[in-house]
Amino acid sequence: MKIISLSNSLGIGVKLANILGIDHIEAYVKIFPDGEIYVRVPVDVKDDVILIQSTYPDQNRTLMELFLGIDAVKRLGGKVVATVIPYLAYSRQDREFLRGEAISSYVILSIIKSLGVKYLVTIDAHSPKLKEYFGEGFINVIPAKLFANYLTQYESIKAGDKNVTVIAPDKGAELRASLLSSELNVDYVVIKKYRDRYTGKIRHEFPEGISVNGKVAVIVDDIISTGGTVANIASFLKDNGAGRVIVVASHGLFVGNAISKLRNSGVDKVVITKTVGINLKSDDLIEVVDPSELIADSLRKIIP
Ligand code: R5P
Repeated sequence: MKIISLSNSLGIGVKLANILGIDHIEAYVKIFPDGEIYVRVPVDVKDDVILIQSTYPDQNRTLMELFLGIDAVKRLGGKVVATVIPYLAYSRQDREFLRGEAISSYVILSIIKSLGVKYLVTIDAHSPKLKEYFGEGFINVIPAKLFANYLTQYESIKAGDKNVTVIAPDKGAELRASLLSSELNVDYVVIKKYRDRYTGKIRHEFPEGISVNGKVAVIVDDIISTGGTVANIASFLKDNGAGRVIVVASHGLFVGNAISKLRNSGVDKVVITKTVGINLKSDDLIEVVDPSELIADSLRKIIP
């Protein structure tokens, strides 16, 4: 067994190799002047391989590199038994919302599967549909424990504290919220979301009998892209008397002015896992936690 890192492995490949006691190889990747990608595995590999690549930024280049990496291993006589993709791009289009749309997540997963990969390990997949598309070998690692540890260690949140509520911004985030609330032994709430058919404006409402007045609210979501979803919920919670608002999100893409949007909405802290290759300027709003140990735990269950 060997671990091979592609160009956007974020150092996770090296960490996994150390944790699991497996040899690590860095693939050679270059881009031709016309933009095409070249991948070479510089060591003879004849047995099972775990291939690491995150897919942001940029989604298209990193995915193509991944496909070529799987082929390169195969041509040496090895086999990519598992690929670790901390952030799986194109996941949000997981169904046809409008007739005639392509389902990008289905396409990406079908390609990886057809190249002979048995297991795909990812952090916090956007929807259960992805497992349907890839099959049994799809391993979705939800970092609830990681966030709970961070919150109790660094944000003085105590397990079982009735003054803390975990918030799911919508129905899609309910599983994440319920897992985090179990780890922290506190309640969770799914916020109701209504969109005005004419103006497109979004309005939020608490389920009946729920209040966050004076409480610590922990919003949980999978992705912060433009920051709009989380910023809207944070403002809503602050307007309704929430004391501290902390956001935990698995993937922080922070597109455009996302960070200032979050700051202006009243968010006190944003905790993300290191799943994408962006360089965050040192900023006291954002904390990054390392998912390598969690990924290693999942790999231990599937590798011989
Ligand atoms: C939506 O379904 C996702 O779970 C996220 O809430 C969404 O992608 C976040 O995007 P943005 O930060 O642009 O609002």
